[in-house]
Parts: sequence; C-alpha cells; structure tokens
Amino acid sequence: MANRRTGPLSVLVATVCLLVLVATNAEASRHSRLVPAAFVFGDSTVDVGNNNCLNVTAAARANYPQYGIDFPGSKPTGRFSNGFNTADLLARGLGFTKSPPAYLSLSEKGIRSHMCKGISFASAGSGLLDSTGRVLFGEVIPMSVQLEHFSGVVDRMVKLSGQRKTAALLRKSIFFISTGSNDMFEYSASSRADDDDDEAFLGALVDAYKHYIMSLYEMGARKFSVISIPPLGCIPSQRLRRLKQLGTQGCFDPLNDLSLSSYPMLAGMLQQLSDQLPGMAYSLADAYAMVSFVFQNPRTEAWNFTDLEAACCGGGPFGAALACNETAPVCADRDEYLFWDANHPSQAVSAIAAQTIFAGNQTFVNPVNVRELAML
Ligand SMILES: *[C@@H]1O[C@H](CO)[C@@H](O)[C@H](O)[C@H]1NC(C)=O
Ligand SMILES: *[C@@H]1O[C@H](CO)[C@@H](O)[C@H](O)[C@H]1NC(C)=O
Ligand SMILES: *[C@@H]1O[C@H](CO)[C@@H](O)[C@H](O)[C@H]1NC(C)=O
Ligand SMILES: *[C@@H]1O[C@H](CO)[C@@H](O)[C@H](O)[C@H]1NC(C)=O
Repeated sequence: MANRRTGPLSVLVATVCLLVLVATNAEASRHSRLVPAAFVFGDSTVDVGNNNCLNVTAAARANYPQYGIDFPGSKPTGRFSNGFNTADLLARGLGFTKSPPAYLSLSEKGIRSHMCKGISFASAGSGLLDSTGRVLFGEVIPMSVQLEHFSGVVDRMVKLSGQRKTAALLRKSIFFISTGSNDMFEYSASSRADDDDDEAFLGALVDAYKHYIMSLYEMGARKFSVISIPPLGCIPSQRLRRLKQLGTQGCFDPLNDLSLSSYPMLAGMLQQLSDQLPGMAYSLADAYAMVSFVFQNPRTEAWNFTDLEAACCGGGPFGAALACNETAPVCADRDEYLFWDANHPSQAVSAIAAQTIFAGNQTFVNPVNVRELAML
C-alpha cells in the first residue's frame, strides 16, 4: 500500500538498503562496514554541520576559520575541531568511508540516499533537557527534536523498504550518542548549583536520557554506543572560570564532581534498560577515565601532548578568554594540544577517544566496546 507513492528513485534506494543487508550478512570483505548504518545524536562534540542551518549565535556555530584548519582542504564545516570529530572517526573505525552527514544539510533526496548508511542529528549547544542552549545560543535542537527528526527518517524507510527490512537494518545499526555536557554547564552556572541540588538535577538528567533511549528502542534501535560526561572542569573555559573566581590554577572541581557522580547513574540506567528491553545492547565509554588517562600519560608511543590545559585556538589565559575565530591566534603543533578551543578537544584527542570507544578495554568501555557491539 505504501508503495503506491514510490517512484523510480525510491525503488533504487530500497535496493541499496537491501544490498547493504546482504553485504553485512556475508560479513566477509575487510572493506565492508561492520554495521549497515550509524546514526548520531548529541551536541557539539559530534555535530558535523547541523547548526550551520540554524539561527544560533557564533558560539554555537563552527563554520568559519580557524575551525577545520586541518580538515581536508582546510575547510570549516561546522565541526568544533581543527579536523574531524569523534563521530567522524568512530564511523571510520566501523568501516564507513564517509561520515554520517548532517540531517539539516540534506535535501529530501539526500535524506533518502543517506538514510540506509546513517545520518547525524547532533546539534551544538543542545542537551538532554529541552531548555538547554536556548537562552545562550538560540534555536539549537534538543534531543527530543533530534529524535523527532529520526522518527521522520524511519517513516521514510518504512515507506520505501517496508517494515521488516527497516526493522532489520535498524536492529543491526549503531546509535551513537554524545550529550549531557551542556546541561551540566548550564546547571553549574545557575543558582540551583549553589542550592546544592545536584542529586535532583542528575536524577532528572539520567531520567531524560533513559526516556530517549527507550524511544529510540521503540523506533527499532537496539545497539547503543553512549559516551559519558568527560571531566568538564578541566577544559580551558572552566580553568579560566576557576582562575577568575578563586584566583588559583587548576580544574573547576564542582563540574568534575558532577561528571564523576553522573557516571554510575548512567551506567546503572543502561544496565537496567538492557535487562528490561529484549535485544537491547550497549557500549558505555567512560570519558572521564579516558581523559584522565591522557592527563596522566601525556607522552606514549602513540601520542605526545605538550599542552594539556590551554586551547590551541583562542586568546588570553588558557586561550579561553578570546573566542577561536579568524583573528584568534592558533598553535602550530596542533596534535600536541589536548584542547582545540576553549570547550572542545583537538582532533588528536578525538582520534584517541574514537579508537578507545571502538576497541578499548574494560578500563574505558563497558560491558563491551563498539567493535564487539557491532558484532553482536
Ligand atoms: C534569530 O534569533 C534572534 C535572537 O533570538 C532573533 O532576534 C531573530 O529574529 C532570529 N532571526 C530569524 C531570521 O529568525
Ligand atoms: C613521542 O615522543 C617520544 C619521545 O620523544 C617518541 O619516542 C615517540 O615516538 C613519539 N610518539 C609520537 C606518536 O610522535
Ligand atoms: C573574533 O573574536 C574576538 C574576541 O572574541 C572579537 O573581538 C572579534 O571581533 C572576532 N573576529 C571576527 C572576525 O569575528
Ligand atoms: C587497558 O588499556 C590501558 C591503556 O592501554 C592499559 O593501561 C590498562 O592496563 C588496560 N587495562 C586492562 C584491564 O587491560
């Protein structure tokens, strides 16, 4: 019945979906990807250009230099990085030759041709709570609306390929989520934080997270790759905050305490859901542990970081007082900086994060890593 409205293009797309399933089942070739599709949700850590299409402030966009200085062609794309971000590099690990593109950058035809391989719904400045980012940045897309966009994509898939093939594709695909940091920043800057409301705030945050994962599950998602909150107090903007507030050097501890407290709650929620929802599986990456490991081991066989505190792009103390833009100073040795701008990791760190999420051991990723999740 739904096929009545499908033209030649949709037939072609439906065929492509089918071929992908066959290739994955055959599972042989080293060149083929490990999963049919990767769908990405979250904030600036994984936005690949959705915010370019939104009415948001410059702080929630990255489509101008010096962003993208190490991207192919030195192109600013909307990624909050000197090059690729963690979602790009994780997709590459999964065997995709191209990153899941930004949903808002796609035409209707583009959505149809990409939806069987993955799309990114992530929006910089957004969070788990609908209110997050609105006042500070403008019309960012909260998780609730990112899921609405995905739901529309699922409807298109069902129309083109039918219920059964859509369910099969979604069941095998990876749902990569990186969110929650902006909720914490806003809470931490609010009077609620002074009232010591941490437990209630974190409870609400994890409840929202649970709700979104259950919604994705109902739409057909089964394999979730979730990245926890990193030590937010150690990013350049928060080091500057501490310097201004306390006159001392170091990480802004209240934010690190929030990040640390959120991890067991997030882990417990995911464990509980996987017990409750048949076929649901997940990989939880401990971003706090991952970043702490790099702080403690700045020089290894695999990497050399000489600056763990300051932004590569930006001015003033910690490179965090003046925004990263065309006129801002940029460091020369970008692979030696942990932070690209006042709030975001460099490509070098994102590569370590992606590699660890994909293939790391249980010190960092539980109960399985994404490679194992893909193979389930
Ligand atoms: C964009 O947002 C600003 C601030 O919220 C508002 O004043 C302006 O009218 C909006 N512009 C458009 C084109 O919607
Ligand atoms: C990092 O520096 C050490 C010592 O200088 C060197 O042995 C190692 O090869 C370097 N690693 C990378 C990835 O550059
Ligand atoms: C870059 O940022 C600085 C400091 O925030 C600001 O004064 C300047 O106008 C910005 N330059 C451009 C080209 O946006
Ligand atoms: C996990 O990997 C890290 C980094 O390679 C290593 O230091 C650690 O000992 C490993 N832990 C386990 C349990 O294998």
